[in-house]
Amino acid sequence: MSALETINFTRGVPANESFPIAELAECAATVLAQGSAEAVLQYGPAAGLAPLRTWLAEWQHVKPEQVLTGNGSLELVQFLCTALIKPGEVVFTESPSYDRAINLFRRNGANVIGVPLQADGPDLEALEKLLAQYKPKLFYVIPDFQNPSGATCSGAKRRRLVELAEKHDLLLLEDAPYRMLRYRGVQEPTLFELAPHRVLHMSSFTKLIAPGVRLGFMIGDAATLAKIGKVAEDTYISPGYFAHGVTYEWCRRGLLFPQIERLKALYAPRLDACLAALDKYIPDAVATRPDGGFFLSLTLPEGVLTTDLRAAAAKRNMNLADGLAFFPQGGGERFLRLPFCALTAAQIEEGIRRLAECVKDVRK
Ligand SMILES: Cc1ncc(COP(=O)(O)O)c(C=O)c1O
Repeated sequence: MSALETINFTRGVPANESFPIAELAECAATVLAQGSAEAVLQYGPAAGLAPLRTWLAEWQHVKPEQVLTGNGSLELVQFLCTALIKPGEVVFTESPSYDRAINLFRRNGANVIGVPLQADGPDLEALEKLLAQYKPKLFYVIPDFQNPSGATCSGAKRRRLVELAEKHDLLLLEDAPYRMLRYRGVQEPTLFELAPHRVLHMSSFTKLIAPGVRLGFMIGDAATLAKIGKVAEDTYISPGYFAHGVTYEWCRRGLLFPQIERLKALYAPRLDACLAALDKYIPDAVATRPDGGFFLSLTLPEGVLTTDLRAAAAKRNMNLADGLAFFPQGGGERFLRLPFCALTAAQIEEGIRRLAECVKDVRK
């Protein structure tokens, strides 16, 4: 690994080598050959390709009408905003949270208020204070291996959070694209499992197959999903049935669960490489130590600002993400997200070594 090679610690993309290309090619051929071709090449219901919805419903232990599929999960957030949020209404997110979701809420006129995130999930005392002040339309939470921090919400906090949602008549939008990628430790229940009537749960095949299949899904109350599905219908008639049909065939063949095992085997050593390199090169930065997912994050040492670090990194052939966009109401000046999945262990080691040099450059 040469010092001249550019290292991208910017985007949370899956590794190219994780894509199950040969399996998808076979599934695509089957879908086009079988007499099912018309079904995936024609328009259809906006809620999604019927057999795929049924498969997802069985997997998630809900009824098919409780499943809405779409072209990626992010677009479903946009449809939800159109269906449910009026300009000026308040939306809570964790702080930090996924910047693209924050942008979507804002673009739809929401007043986005941040609930501070701790290592074991949102600060629920702060949430209670905010709930005394505001009546939010929803609270957007990423309980498993959060983007951008890597934090996972504890079981105790999940239970308390749904109690608070019940008490304050609060809708929780649970976004869980990283949940299946747990490399160690024990799975906590989803918020949806704890309080199905209070939660819309979202996930995506972006991190399990590839972003290119553009398959996200939302599960929850059928009437609410029908409203969101109507916005989808008015926008694109039906989602990308061809890619969804290929994904359905792939799931039907039982290929999802072996793929998840392959992903864990590929990504777990990358997380370990990242943690080991941080301990070795930047021991005074405070790192989250996730048990899965795509990200960990650092609070940089006192006096080291992410903006300065990015400039120093650019001089050393390295791209870092801006920490500020993840914080809806400011903060994050020393926050750095490190996505580790799309880099090899050697690139990670070299990247963290360069990062340590950048910290020294900035401190001078
Ligand atoms: C928390 C979270 N939600 C949603 C998405 C977008 O997923 P999709 O590709 O399904 O739109 C991402 C992608 O990085 C994400 O991190």
